[in-house]
Amino acid sequence: MASEIRSEMENDIERVLLTEEQLRQRVKELGAQISADYVGRDPVLISVLRGSFVFMADLARQIQPYCRVDFMAVSSYGSGTSSSGQVNIQKDLTEPIEGKDIIVVEDILDSGNTLYYLMQVLQARNPASIRLATLLDKPERRAKPIKSDYVGFTVPDEFVVGYGLDYNERYRNLPYIGVLKPRVYEK
Ligand code: PRP
Repeated sequence: MASEIRSEMENDIERVLLTEEQLRQRVKELGAQISADYVGRDPVLISVLRGSFVFMADLARQIQPYCRVDFMAVSSYGSGTSSSGQVNIQKDLTEPIEGKDIIVVEDILDSGNTLYYLMQVLQARNPASIRLATLLDKPERRAKPIKSDYVGFTVPDEFVVGYGLDYNERYRNLPYIGVLKPRVYEK
Protein backbone atom coordinates (compact mmCIF):
# COMPACT_ATOMS: atom_id res chain seq x y z
CA MET A 1 0.00 0.00 0.00
CA ALA A 2 2.71 2.44 1.02
CA SER A 3 4.64 1.85 -2.21
CA GLU A 4 1.48 2.44 -4.28
CA ILE A 5 1.01 5.82 -2.60
CA ARG A 6 4.66 6.68 -3.20
CA SER A 7 4.48 5.70 -6.87
CA GLU A 8 1.41 7.89 -7.40
CA MET A 9 3.37 10.89 -6.07
CA GLU A 10 6.49 9.93 -8.01
CA ASN A 11 4.45 9.68 -11.18
CA ASP A 12 4.09 13.48 -11.03
CA ILE A 13 7.87 13.89 -11.24
CA GLU A 14 9.39 14.44 -14.67
CA ARG A 15 12.96 13.74 -13.58
CA VAL A 16 15.20 13.65 -10.54
CA LEU A 17 17.30 16.82 -10.34
CA LEU A 18 19.23 16.06 -7.13
CA THR A 19 19.45 12.58 -5.66
CA GLU A 20 19.39 11.75 -1.97
CA GLU A 21 23.12 11.02 -2.13
CA GLN A 22 23.93 14.35 -3.82
CA LEU A 23 21.88 16.18 -1.18
CA ARG A 24 23.52 14.28 1.69
CA GLN A 25 27.01 14.98 0.38
CA ARG A 26 26.44 18.69 -0.28
CA VAL A 27 24.70 19.31 3.05
CA LYS A 28 27.65 17.66 4.77
CA GLU A 29 30.02 20.04 2.95
CA LEU A 30 27.93 23.08 3.89
CA GLY A 31 27.88 21.89 7.51
CA ALA A 32 31.66 21.57 7.53
CA GLN A 33 32.05 25.06 6.05
CA ILE A 34 29.66 26.60 8.60
CA SER A 35 31.35 24.69 11.43
CA ALA A 36 34.72 26.11 10.43
CA ASP A 37 33.31 29.65 10.14
CA TYR A 38 31.52 29.60 13.51
CA VAL A 39 34.00 27.94 15.88
CA GLY A 40 33.30 29.21 19.42
CA ARG A 41 30.36 31.43 18.35
CA ASP A 42 27.16 29.51 19.24
CA PRO A 43 25.13 30.69 16.22
CA VAL A 44 21.33 30.60 15.98
CA LEU A 45 20.01 28.70 12.97
CA ILE A 46 16.72 30.24 11.90
CA SER A 47 14.60 27.92 9.81
CA VAL A 48 12.08 29.67 7.59
CA LEU A 49 9.09 27.35 7.54
CA ARG A 50 7.78 25.44 5.98
CA GLY A 51 10.02 24.60 3.04
CA SER A 52 13.29 24.55 4.98
CA PHE A 53 12.38 21.96 7.61
CA VAL A 54 14.16 19.04 5.91
CA PHE A 55 17.29 21.02 5.01
CA MET A 56 17.38 22.52 8.52
CA ALA A 57 17.18 19.10 10.19
CA ASP A 58 19.98 17.68 8.03
CA LEU A 59 22.19 20.80 8.12
CA ALA A 60 21.92 21.25 11.90
CA ARG A 61 23.20 17.69 12.39
CA GLN A 62 26.28 18.47 10.28
CA ILE A 63 27.26 21.49 12.39
CA GLN A 64 29.90 20.70 15.01
CA PRO A 65 30.09 23.76 17.34
CA TYR A 66 27.30 24.58 19.78
CA CYS A 67 24.36 26.09 17.96
CA ARG A 68 20.73 26.92 18.68
CA VAL A 69 17.66 26.60 16.50
CA ASP A 70 14.61 28.80 16.13
CA PHE A 71 11.78 28.92 13.63
CA MET A 72 9.83 31.50 11.68
CA ALA A 73 6.99 31.04 9.26
CA VAL A 74 6.39 33.39 6.37
CA SER A 75 4.30 33.07 3.27
CA SER A 76 4.79 34.57 -0.14
CA TYR A 77 3.72 32.05 -2.77
CA GLY A 78 0.09 31.23 -2.09
CA SER A 79 -0.74 28.36 -4.40
CA GLY A 80 0.87 29.81 -7.54
CA THR A 81 4.33 29.27 -8.94
CA SER A 82 5.96 32.63 -8.17
CA SER A 83 6.14 34.90 -5.14
CA SER A 84 4.17 38.12 -5.09
CA GLY A 85 6.49 40.35 -3.07
CA GLN A 86 3.79 40.46 -0.45
CA VAL A 87 5.31 38.70 2.57
CA ASN A 88 3.40 37.84 5.73
CA ILE A 89 5.04 36.78 9.00
CA GLN A 90 2.81 33.97 10.22
CA LYS A 91 4.99 32.86 13.12
CA ASP A 92 7.77 34.90 14.70
CA LEU A 93 10.93 33.72 16.48
CA THR A 94 10.70 32.44 20.04
CA GLU A 95 13.86 34.18 21.30
CA PRO A 96 15.29 37.69 20.75
CA ILE A 97 18.30 37.75 18.39
CA GLU A 98 19.94 41.00 19.48
CA GLY A 99 23.71 40.47 19.75
CA LYS A 100 23.51 36.92 18.38
CA ASP A 101 25.15 35.40 15.32
CA ILE A 102 22.27 34.43 13.03
CA ILE A 103 22.18 32.03 10.11
CA VAL A 104 18.91 32.11 8.19
CA VAL A 105 18.25 28.68 6.69
CA GLU A 106 16.05 28.51 3.59
CA ASP A 107 15.21 25.90 1.01
CA ILE A 108 15.28 28.18 -2.04
CA LEU A 109 16.28 31.68 -3.07
CA ASP A 110 14.15 32.41 -6.11
CA SER A 111 12.92 35.95 -6.90
CA GLY A 112 14.44 37.00 -3.55
CA ASN A 113 11.26 38.83 -2.56
CA THR A 114 10.77 36.77 0.60
CA LEU A 115 14.33 36.83 1.88
CA TYR A 116 15.07 40.43 0.95
CA TYR A 117 12.20 41.45 3.17
CA LEU A 118 12.94 38.95 5.92
CA MET A 119 16.65 39.82 6.15
CA GLN A 120 15.70 43.48 6.64
CA VAL A 121 13.25 42.56 9.40
CA LEU A 122 15.90 40.47 11.18
CA GLN A 123 18.69 43.03 10.64
CA ALA A 124 16.54 45.66 12.36
CA ARG A 125 16.65 43.52 15.53
CA ASN A 126 20.41 44.13 15.78
CA PRO A 127 21.98 40.69 15.62
CA ALA A 128 25.81 40.60 15.93
CA SER A 129 25.93 39.11 12.42
CA ILE A 130 23.51 37.69 9.90
CA ARG A 131 24.17 35.23 7.10
CA LEU A 132 22.02 33.24 4.75
CA ALA A 133 22.20 29.54 3.88
CA THR A 134 20.01 28.34 1.02
CA LEU A 135 19.93 24.83 -0.31
CA LEU A 136 18.91 25.96 -3.79
CA ASP A 137 19.55 29.15 -5.69
CA LYS A 138 17.73 30.17 -8.89
CA PRO A 139 19.69 33.31 -9.87
CA GLU A 140 17.86 33.64 -13.24
CA ARG A 141 14.70 34.60 -11.40
CA ARG A 142 16.16 37.21 -9.06
CA ALA A 143 14.11 40.41 -8.72
CA LYS A 144 15.80 41.75 -5.55
CA PRO A 145 19.52 42.39 -4.82
CA ILE A 146 20.23 39.52 -2.47
CA LYS A 147 22.88 36.79 -2.36
CA SER A 148 23.22 33.72 -0.21
CA ASP A 149 26.41 33.16 1.82
CA TYR A 150 26.11 29.37 1.71
CA VAL A 151 24.52 27.85 -1.42
CA GLY A 152 23.92 24.15 -1.84
CA PHE A 153 23.13 24.03 -5.55
CA THR A 154 22.45 26.56 -8.30
CA VAL A 155 19.45 25.23 -10.21
CA PRO A 156 17.76 26.11 -13.51
CA ASP A 157 14.41 27.86 -13.70
CA GLU A 158 12.24 24.76 -13.46
CA PHE A 159 9.50 23.88 -10.99
CA VAL A 160 11.27 21.81 -8.37
CA VAL A 161 9.73 19.92 -5.46
CA GLY A 162 10.82 17.51 -2.73
CA TYR A 163 13.18 17.60 0.27
CA GLY A 164 10.86 20.17 1.86
CA LEU A 165 9.79 22.05 -1.28
CA ASP A 166 6.13 21.82 -2.20
CA TYR A 167 3.56 22.40 -4.85
CA ASN A 168 0.17 23.03 -3.25
CA GLU A 169 1.59 21.59 0.00
CA ARG A 170 2.40 18.23 -1.62
CA TYR A 171 5.76 16.59 -2.38
CA ARG A 172 7.59 17.99 0.69
CA ASN A 173 8.18 14.39 1.79
CA LEU A 174 9.96 13.27 -1.39
CA PRO A 175 13.49 12.36 -0.26
CA TYR A 176 15.09 13.83 -3.38
CA ILE A 177 14.53 17.00 -5.46
CA GLY A 178 12.65 16.49 -8.69
CA VAL A 179 11.22 18.55 -11.52
CA LEU A 180 7.43 18.56 -11.46
CA LYS A 181 5.58 17.54 -14.63
CA PRO A 182 3.93 20.66 -16.09
CA ARG A 183 0.57 18.86 -16.30
CA VAL A 184 0.44 18.96 -12.49
CA TYR A 185 0.51 22.76 -12.21
CA GLU A 186 -1.12 23.53 -15.55
CA LYS A 187 -4.34 21.80 -14.47
C1 PRP B 1 9.40 29.51 -0.68
C2 PRP B 1 10.78 29.41 -0.07
C3 PRP B 1 11.17 30.83 0.15
C4 PRP B 1 10.50 31.55 -0.98
C5 PRP B 1 11.48 31.80 -2.06
O1 PRP B 1 8.48 29.59 0.35
O2 PRP B 1 10.78 28.67 1.11
O3 PRP B 1 10.67 31.31 1.36
O4 PRP B 1 9.45 30.71 -1.45
O5 PRP B 1 10.90 32.49 -3.11
P1 PRP B 1 11.28 34.00 -3.50
O6 PRP B 1 12.78 34.07 -3.50
O7 PRP B 1 10.70 34.10 -4.89
O8 PRP B 1 10.63 34.92 -2.55
P2 PRP B 1 6.89 29.45 0.16
O9 PRP B 1 6.28 30.80 0.19
O10 PRP B 1 6.61 28.56 -1.01
O11 PRP B 1 6.44 28.75 1.50
P3 PRP B 1 6.87 27.35 2.13
O12 PRP B 1 8.27 27.55 2.69
O13 PRP B 1 5.85 27.11 3.19
O14 PRP B 1 6.86 26.31 1.04
